Amino acid sequence: MERYAHITGWGMAVPEKVLTNDDLARMVDTSDNWIRTRTGIRERRIAGPRDSTASLSVEAAQNALEVADIAPDDVDLIIVATSTPEHLMPATASLVQDALGATKAGGFDLLAACSGFVYALTVGAQVIRSGAMQNVLVIGAETLSRVVNWNDRGTCILFGDGAGAFLLQGSGVPGGVLSTLLRSDGSGASSLIIPAGGSRMPASFNTVREHLHAIQMDGKEVYRFATRVMAAATREVVQKAGLRLDDVRLIVPHQANRRIIESAARSLELPQEKFFMNLERYGNTSAASIPIACCEAVEQGRLRSNDHAVLIGFGAGLTWGAALVKWDVTVKPEVSRWNQLRRRAVYGLAKVRSSLRRGVRRVEGVIYGSDVPENGHKTPPRK
Ligand code: UT7
Repeated sequence: MERYAHITGWGMAVPEKVLTNDDLARMVDTSDNWIRTRTGIRERRIAGPRDSTASLSVEAAQNALEVADIAPDDVDLIIVATSTPEHLMPATASLVQDALGATKAGGFDLLAACSGFVYALTVGAQVIRSGAMQNVLVIGAETLSRVVNWNDRGTCILFGDGAGAFLLQGSGVPGGVLSTLLRSDGSGASSLIIPAGGSRMPASFNTVREHLHAIQMDGKEVYRFATRVMAAATREVVQKAGLRLDDVRLIVPHQANRRIIESAARSLELPQEKFFMNLERYGNTSAASIPIACCEAVEQGRLRSNDHAVLIGFGAGLTWGAALVKWDVTVKPEVSRWNQLRRRAVYGLAKVRSSLRRGVRRVEGVIYGSDVPENGHKTPPRK
């Protein structure tokens, strides 16, 4: 029997701190008027000292599990799409797995920049469709404020922090993620890049001094690329699902720039109302923007049961990707009390389990010797 990957849970999380255009105008040579007219953005959320890509991911994932009404120990796989992972290693997904108490789940991070969520959704859906797994958490999460050069007015006005998550579940009933399309053009890699910190240019005094760990972007080039690919990818993914553009209720694009979205609407000869936009309040949250937008579209009644929607992302790589989904699962009228209690117990136990495991590792370290202490820095060799 053919299997389908349904979106049965969705959730989002954004930091509390709001940074307005006026706040930015006090930091760099810009103005509210310039930012609003060129991008459509009014404000964005900025991670506080206690927020991180993992903490936002965990909150969004918990909200998605609540909507789907399943417990974390029923999750088989966690994919975190991000360009701002908690660390270069280990994967943010492992930290999320530990914090959720998803004891039966594997996890990995996926980097496809602003297209990351559509890439992760594609992989998650295919793992389910193959029959290998039943419940997959797909998360898009970013703390871009940590990799922005706050002196560069060309980029620092654009980005914001946040996370969004989908819970995908397998079923024999047709629906869910119906078709996807993933593309990449690495010849445009330098148009949107964090040059240092990888194997090409490891961190050094110079890379830090020259801001090479921050986002660099050729805005005009990315703009041209985005307007070129959005309409074509939307048409293709709709066709691949055997549908017509008229069948699509809502297009949820990556929230980069209002003008890019308007230009795609013109190319597709569709009314602006078919495109969901919330970039005014969050800016560009890269891999998180599409799932956050979906959560708000559901909340506002713009995405309802049995609606077909196109999710479309584009960004660094250069990469782009689109998914045609049937939003055919509604929020359950009431969650099962038993599942709710189970979730709470698992979250509580997750903290205890994690601390116990760290304790056991410390004891083993004392008994058998250890090179890397808890804070992660390698101890200097003994004299
Ligand atoms: O998620 C990944 C995808 N990323 C994107 O989609 C970004 C795509 N690109 C864009 O959204 C736009 O290119 C930007 C919003 C980044 C820039 O808009 P633009 O209309 O392409 O502006 P521009 O770079 O052509 O700059 C126009 C002028 C320049 O001044 P001159 O040379 O005309 O005197 C810039 O120096 O605006 C100046 N400028 C600014 N002025 C005030 C650039 N940034 C700012 C600023 N405030 N923040």
